[in-house]
Amino acid sequence: MFDPKEFVDDAIKKLRGEIKGKALVACSGGVDSTVTAVLTYKAIGDRLYALHVDTGLLRKHETEQVKELFQKIGIPLNCIDASDRFFEKLKGVADPEKKRRVIGELFVRVFEEFAEEKGIEYLVQGTIAPDWIESGDQLRDTIKTHHNVGGLPKDIKLKVVEPLRDLYKDEVRKVARFLNIPISEKQPFPGPGLAVRVIGEVTREKVEVVREACAIVEEEIEKASKEGRMSLPWQYFAVLLPVRTVGVHGDKRAYGYTIAVRAIDSIDAMTGSFSRIPHDILDRIATRISNEIGDKVTRVVYDITNKPPATIEWE
Ligand code: XMP
Repeated sequence: MFDPKEFVDDAIKKLRGEIKGKALVACSGGVDSTVTAVLTYKAIGDRLYALHVDTGLLRKHETEQVKELFQKIGIPLNCIDASDRFFEKLKGVADPEKKRRVIGELFVRVFEEFAEEKGIEYLVQGTIAPDWIESGDQLRDTIKTHHNVGGLPKDIKLKVVEPLRDLYKDEVRKVARFLNIPISEKQPFPGPGLAVRVIGEVTREKVEVVREACAIVEEEIEKASKEGRMSLPWQYFAVLLPVRTVGVHGDKRAYGYTIAVRAIDSIDAMTGSFSRIPHDILDRIATRISNEIGDKVTRVVYDITNKPPATIEWE
């Protein structure tokens, strides 16, 4: 049986041994990186610099929520807005693996610049087991290059430290509960963010559409779960497809994008089955997306594929 207290004591000891100077931890506000930040802060105190990078690919209000969270848990947070740089680098990139590598590399360049300024040598990452398993190696096929594993540039100047490397998400959540981290139950969100929820080339316009759609999916599913209509899925979000179809908005012809709604039940993200969302809730999600996003979206579909054969994210 996994014992969070034993894990925490052991991880703090190891981090103290491994990190000799200053370290940087990248904080997205998710469970993995927040647990990593708290453990490392306990281990090395003020030698740790917590850094939040706004990539422009985050969900609605996410940067403000990360700031509030770090204030609550008492770790000073540095923030950098790098959104222009991310959109610039993603111009013309449609291939999902290339997208992941571009994002992984730019993250590291931003980290390196910050590290140089502060005299930091170590990068602490919240990588967990499925991240490196799916990123592949000599023995395993690459399912997708997680931005924080295969997406790291080979010439990275920082020494990478990964205290959660052997844990699965359910174990990370146990550690988060043990440490009283308020977002212990938050749904996972991929490091490359909304870039992997816009299929094909990423533009600001498409990201804005999928951001609104994700917010609607989250609101409606969380509401339904609070009302006892369904249990909260492992993950639930929207994906923008570059497929345009004909629709009517008011009495005018529209030619807009397609939004796919994805909700999946899983224990550890390695396998999963699509959530059986009641039809009236799906109906409400589709109606709100069509009404609130305007004529940019003319069709909403629901993804009924399990993992495998599909993965959770579409890219
Ligand atoms: P897939 O889509 O491979 O996702 O079934 C498994 C879990 O991992 C998340 N995911 C990522 N997390 N960096 C991350 O930190 C990534 O590059 C990445 N890609 C996918 C995904 O949301 C799911 O929870």
